[in-house]
Amino acid sequence: MKPMMKQYEIVETAIEDYPACMALFGGQCPFAETCLTQRKTGDREAYLLRVNGEIVSECHLVYDNPEYGTIPGRRAYFSRMITKKEYRRQGYGEAMARFILALAKEKGYAEIALGVNCDNDPALRLYQKLGFSVYAEAEDDYGKYYRMEKKL
Ligand SMILES: CC(C)(COP(=O)(O)OP(=O)(O)OC[C@H]1O[C@@H](n2cnc3c(N)ncnc32)[C@H](O)[C@@H]1OP(=O)(O)O)[C@@H](O)C(=O)NCCC(=O)NCCS
Repeated sequence: MKPMMKQYEIVETAIEDYPACMALFGGQCPFAETCLTQRKTGDREAYLLRVNGEIVSECHLVYDNPEYGTIPGRRAYFSRMITKKEYRRQGYGEAMARFILALAKEKGYAEIALGVNCDNDPALRLYQKLGFSVYAEAEDDYGKYYRMEKKL
């Protein structure tokens, strides 16, 4: 049986908190440098879900980066979703994701897009559950991935 979800809080991390905002992906994250640059220009915000002060999930909202399929003022990008291993399958990832979707909508975005490796079944299922659908398939240095989108 799944453990019960505990009370949690979701907070935005300040740039000064770096590398705390990368606590779950770790310093080896190949996108760490890009993420930090985008946070400095205000194009990316990083959010953490915490349980009793412990970081459990992380997710970012990206506003302006056409490479990711963003359209200024219309389509945002959902990025770096992760839940700490020992807390997976307990609903925290979904809670974090729903927070980010609501935030993008509140900020006036009509759509949100993301990229996910074709073989990442847990993430694909999460995104399908949230109402994302695949609109293209692509390939980069990390292999084949789907581009997904959702109307907000
Ligand atoms: C993908 C990930 C963020 C999901 O986080 P999570 O906290 O475990 O997700 P939740 O417990 O909230 O699950 C929500 C839904 O996602 C789907 N899901 C999550 N993990 C799953 C798994 N292992 N197998 C099948 N479906 C899964 C289910 O639909 C689930 O809903 P359900 O419990 O009602 O069946 C987590 O597996 C993770 O951190 N993976 C490594 C990092 C990663 O790949 N990030 C995605 C980058 S695109």
